[in-house]
Amino acid sequence: MKCSLTTRPLDALAKDALIIFVQNKKPMLSGSKTISALATEQIKNSGFSGETLQILVFPTLGKIKPSRIILAGLGKTAGFRMETLERTASAAVRAGVKAGAKNFITGIDKTAKPAFIHAVARGAAWGTYDFNTFKTDGKKKSTTLSLTFAGECKNAAAGRRALTEAQAESDALLSTADLANLPGNIATPQKIANWASKMAKETGLTCSVLGKADLKKKNCNALLAVAAGSDLDAKIITLKYKGTDPTAKPVVLVGKTITFDSGGISLKPGKGMGWMLYDKCGGMAVLTAMKMIALLKPKTPVIGILTVAENMPSGGATRPGDIIKSRSGKTIEILNTDAEGRLALCDALDLALTHKPAAIVDLATLTGAVIVALGQNGSAILGNNSQLTQKLIKAGEAGGERLWELPIWDEHKEDIKGTFADLQNIGKSGTAGTITAGAFLSEFVPDDVPWAHIDIAGTAWVESPKPWMDPGATLFGARTLIEWIKRL
Ligand code: BES
Ligand code: ZN
Ligand code: ZN
Repeated sequence: MKCSLTTRPLDALAKDALIIFVQNKKPMLSGSKTISALATEQIKNSGFSGETLQILVFPTLGKIKPSRIILAGLGKTAGFRMETLERTASAAVRAGVKAGAKNFITGIDKTAKPAFIHAVARGAAWGTYDFNTFKTDGKKKSTTLSLTFAGECKNAAAGRRALTEAQAESDALLSTADLANLPGNIATPQKIANWASKMAKETGLTCSVLGKADLKKKNCNALLAVAAGSDLDAKIITLKYKGTDPTAKPVVLVGKTITFDSGGISLKPGKGMGWMLYDKCGGMAVLTAMKMIALLKPKTPVIGILTVAENMPSGGATRPGDIIKSRSGKTIEILNTDAEGRLALCDALDLALTHKPAAIVDLATLTGAVIVALGQNGSAILGNNSQLTQKLIKAGEAGGERLWELPIWDEHKEDIKGTFADLQNIGKSGTAGTITAGAFLSEFVPDDVPWAHIDIAGTAWVESPKPWMDPGATLFGARTLIEWIKRL
């Protein structure tokens, strides 16, 4: 999606679809009376209520230059979130593309905020995404789509800057989605490593990959225990962005990247197991964020670490009851091989410390329990530093991703103390699944290193078609991370 901004009036340009956002049942328009009248008449006569994500496409029959109008509901002012705007923009473009539109236009007025333009542009780009490479009759559409923001915008320069950022972020989101949506037989640890090093080369990041032998040397035995049952070797992929401030300490982003999670010997039930190809989505969000960072060049140095493995049952697999010594030196009883994410992460967190980070943020599709707690409309955030947590929650609000804090109490830490080893990888009580997973991770980060853990199990992918996207990876987390890093 090619986005641009012009201060020419909205009705001066012939395009095939005019997107009009509707808030409080009123079209968000200034300027052209003809357009306002058309939109208002449609709202009155069509039953279009302007609820969040509601879309109505209708032909303009030569009454104005654009040949269609797309009404896009934003609900009411009260309760408005950036997420609503971004998703609605995406839904509007999807509906337009289905109706045959290629060149979109939308109005901006004097008071149009860069944040508004940014969210609409990024949502619109997401609305063009289509993952159909495996359909024999499917083909990637090569037509270039465009979106023009038109109107008497006071600060066109700031608007254009917002567009440039949105464009770079969309590039990162759409290209990484193509990797995130690949199934476990194709997106193997090696394939992900190749993708990351190619991306790094193209964008000026440095990339290093640790294979099985290196991981053994570096004592990453918890990660190796996850991969023990798989024919595919584990990897740790590290991407580095230098930053423009050489004195600044880096922030480290860590992503759980399980290319397929069968549960291992603690095998998952068959129903729905296929969705576990998305168990790599913590890593996919980190990859997306690193590509955004490479393109936007913020001040702060950033390091991205993907801890990659496939979790399979076999004669060589880790057994429930096995005890291993993690890279940190802490010993772990692996009582459930399906709680593998925390094992892959604990070694990566310990490696993250070697970079003397200013902060560590990890993202992981870690627990089914987070879906019980929050459903699919937000992720849980836990950590050891309330300032960092609050900053990430705020960045999430601006980036259109909802985060909700859960505590880690001493009782939760007690729950994951081992009987025969220092720790066990599941809680004794069987309660507070998301928190005990966080409590386990907290054992690997000293109190004086600000750390946050985001459990994206409920938000990393969608399973049924939504107005703003088809089933697939959402890359939840990347939008929060880039917003946070821009503000550092
Ligand atoms: N990858 C899963 C978590 C998951 C579940 C993600 C559902 C997305 C949707 C994770 O590795 C896992 O299996 N966790 C277990 C932990 C349990 C054994 C303590 C879970 O949540 O059941
Ligand atoms: Zn699992
Ligand atoms: Zn998992």
